[in-house]
Amino acid sequence: MARFEWAAEYDTGNDNIDDQHKQIFDAANLLFEAVRQKKEGDVLDQLFDVLLQYTNTHFKDEEEFFEEIGSSLLTFHKAEHRRLVDEIRDMWREKRQGSSEDIGMDLEHWMEQRLVPHIIKEDVRALEAAS
Ligand SMILES: [Fe+2]
Ligand SMILES: [Fe+2]
Repeated sequence: MARFEWAAEYDTGNDNIDDQHKQIFDAANLLFEAVRQKKEGDVLDQLFDVLLQYTNTHFKDEEEFFEEIGSSLLTFHKAEHRRLVDEIRDMWREKRQGSSEDIGMDLEHWMEQRLVPHIIKEDVRALEAAS
């Protein structure tokens, strides 16, 4: 069973956004599984990169969409996206430097304490703030 399971309460009401969120979950699951199997080096680097790319692409698309619909929370939302991406980069760097005690726990924290709250609160708020 995948570590990070999609739940109906994560739906934002926008199918495109939900589909992209699910892709981020898929990427996080692949990375988590590799960590669980104690994979290292290039394999882990590639999976981190996939998570970073999926997340970046989603944020870019979402920001364009929020701009199109005239969401008043766009500026705030963009800053929040930058923080989330920086946190993936920090996680990755700490792993490479050997300063992370448990990369699986770091990823769980990012998914459950950072990404999911962003989805269910900030994405929904930004959608509702359309003009
Ligand atoms: Fe999102
Ligand atoms: Fe967002």
